[in-house]
Amino acid sequence: MQCILVTGGCGFIGANFIRFLLEDTDFSGRIINVDALTYAGNPENLEGLDRRFPDRYRFVHADVCDREKMAEIFTTYPVDTVCHFAAESHVDRSIVAPDAFIRTNIMGTFNLLELARTHQDRLALFHHVSTDEVFGSLDETGHFTEKTPYDPSSPYSASKAASDHLVRAYHRTYKIPVTLSNCSNNYGPYQFPEKLIPLMILNALEGRPLPVYGDGRNVRDWLYVKDHCRAIWMIMQQGRWGETYNIGGRSEMKNIDVVRMICDLLDEMAPPDGKMSRRNLISFVKDRPGHDLRYAMDSSKLETETGWKPAESFESGLRKTIEWYLAHSSWVGRVRDGEYQTWMDRQYPEMRGRKGSA
Ligand code: NAD
Ligand code: DAU
Repeated sequence: MQCILVTGGCGFIGANFIRFLLEDTDFSGRIINVDALTYAGNPENLEGLDRRFPDRYRFVHADVCDREKMAEIFTTYPVDTVCHFAAESHVDRSIVAPDAFIRTNIMGTFNLLELARTHQDRLALFHHVSTDEVFGSLDETGHFTEKTPYDPSSPYSASKAASDHLVRAYHRTYKIPVTLSNCSNNYGPYQFPEKLIPLMILNALEGRPLPVYGDGRNVRDWLYVKDHCRAIWMIMQQGRWGETYNIGGRSEMKNIDVVRMICDLLDEMAPPDGKMSRRNLISFVKDRPGHDLRYAMDSSKLETETGWKPAESFESGLRKTIEWYLAHSSWVGRVRDGEYQTWMDRQYPEMRGRKGSA
């Protein structure tokens, strides 16, 4: 692996992955970051890397659905590895407007696979980054394994499931060297604040309501983003072709408990003006349609084959995340410009203009 094409590298996990590769590993090759810069893509997430690593890092503004432009990239650069993050990633947006999800997540992946097929002679690996949501919902017990049948609930998870099937099919049919990873909920620096954890941190800091869907008893398995990046890199180096690896944090939490923990940590780390706890801002709102009850990942295959283990507990990762958002208020201000407020007003109409009391 000497020239890795990272797609979606200006998004949350992609940016963390590129930083991780360049700053924390002994990888000495080049990275070509291809990103369409949708509302979720932000070149600022990688600020300074082009100056610090001028021969090793290059950003190309392109859409993975644009076959001609992507073909040009494969011709211009000696790409021998693909790590495919680019996607529409927010479940709520997929419920409101699924088109972009079908286009990018399915057609974009298909395009890249076709290019991988064209350049198969020089391709060392195509790694596909996917989600635990392809498996649907668990009841109160049990874990998803790599053998759990796919049963996606949202347009987002259905589009990711379709892309996973395409990647495996290209391995079986054309012998493209692929690995896949299905990961649980990530959190950490650079996450766009439409997702639960950064949304709650920022609303709580501003004394705004904390919108918990339904009764808040839905369970997610949380993983600090750097642990995810390390797992992907270990799979890319040690994973077996054609295999899928589940990645999870062994850190199952009810949404309401996550939100309460954020409130308590914020009360400690950034004490509110008055005495009132930020827990008073919690506000139960209409449930997400098709809301999966519980996700829990069995990562034992990954752990056994590569030795990977998460380094952060949920509490240590959450503290780091809160510290990061407290220290990056200018970044927050900039990403919440523009269409962000329109989305928030549409998604949480009952909260428009409301202020909390913390
Ligand atoms: P994100 O929304 O933060 O970033 C997505 C990036 O892809 C953005 O930079 C965006 O500009 C880019 N993009 C979107 N459409 C594109 C297109 N057509 N062409 C090129 N670039 C395009 O997403 P994320 O949370 O960083 O997720 C990255 C990947 O990881 C996704 O494939 C997602 O399904 C998967 N994943 C995410 C999580 C999570 O908790 N966030 C968990 C498991 C798997
Ligand atoms: O499980 C992996 C998936 O995690 C990834 O594939 C997705 O890309 C990523 O967005 C994430 O999906 P979720 O839907 O689980 O994440 P989200 O942060 O949107 O929601 C987490 C939980 O919190 C979910 O049960 C819905 C709930 N929620 C979310 C928001 C935004 C709320 O209760 N209130 C909110 O305002």
